[in-house]
Amino acid sequence: MTTGSCIQSAPSSGHGLIPVSLPLLRTIGQAKTCVYYWNEQVGRAVLVCDRDDSIEELCTRNLPENSKNQLYLRSSDYESICGELLGGLKDIAGDETLSPVDRFEVMQTVVGLELERAFHRIDSHRFVELGEHIGSQICGLVGENRVLPAKLFEIARHDYFTFSHVTNVTGYAVVLAQRLGISDETELNHIAIGAMLHDIGKRHVPRSILVKRAKLTPQERCAIRQHPQAGYRDLLKSELSNDGQRMMAYQHHERIDGNGYPVCILGPEIHDWAKLLSVVDVFDALTGERPYRKPLSFTSALDFMAARAGTQFDTEVVKCWIAAITQK
Ligand SMILES: [Fe+2]
Repeated sequence: MTTGSCIQSAPSSGHGLIPVSLPLLRTIGQAKTCVYYWNEQVGRAVLVCDRDDSIEELCTRNLPENSKNQLYLRSSDYESICGELLGGLKDIAGDETLSPVDRFEVMQTVVGLELERAFHRIDSHRFVELGEHIGSQICGLVGENRVLPAKLFEIARHDYFTFSHVTNVTGYAVVLAQRLGISDETELNHIAIGAMLHDIGKRHVPRSILVKRAKLTPQERCAIRQHPQAGYRDLLKSELSNDGQRMMAYQHHERIDGNGYPVCILGPEIHDWAKLLSVVDVFDALTGERPYRKPLSFTSALDFMAARAGTQFDTEVVKCWIAAITQK
């Protein structure tokens, strides 16, 4: 095994190394790939597993302290491995050698690249198709194993990528729906797919606005506020979506008190699935990185939401979410 090779720039500087978790490496156990770890002391990535070495053996080996959280693949290897695993999401969801939470984390990693690519295509069809496939797998995994929301929060990705946000929100939406008493598998599945697709309208918002760090101009804010209608139109074109899912896209920024957008409707007019989605959507947005602010702490996010029960959010839904996510 080679240990001397190294890459001498920080993993965050975009030089082609992608962080990966041990559960993901376990899933790709037979693949031929180089694995690196980031050595803080010397400030460089060091090869810990060469192409001809066994990744399975690496996963059980005593690595340097803390290095298990700092393992990396070259981006080209990462892309081809994720591409291969994408077709086997069902196998990942059912892999009992990993905990359900680890399986969810691996699935999030595997689907990220393709979701990101599909998101930027002119035709929304591929994104809808992927959303349906991934939403169903997340629903089965999270719903059947009754994963605790707090566990999902621990592994949720708090970066600012649409795919991270939608997969986090989908996991949360399934557990919240169950806590609200929804047990019908078909309904849960529809909710999960709707959650995957709720921000599809952001495809039409210029990226320069989505990632802008400075305060948005009124015109830019107006452009962002178009995404519910744009998403509704995208889903209307798709035979794969139903009314409830289209309402999740259209109404997830409406508020119970009528001060939301795009239509300013009041609580009774908002679809139940959109009320549910709005709670987990805001929770994930608050606890995630955004270009213009740092994530809020878990407690501050829940305080923020509790203070808006009955105005922004449906009181029962937000109460149910706070009870669920604080359950140990
Ligand atoms: Fe949105």
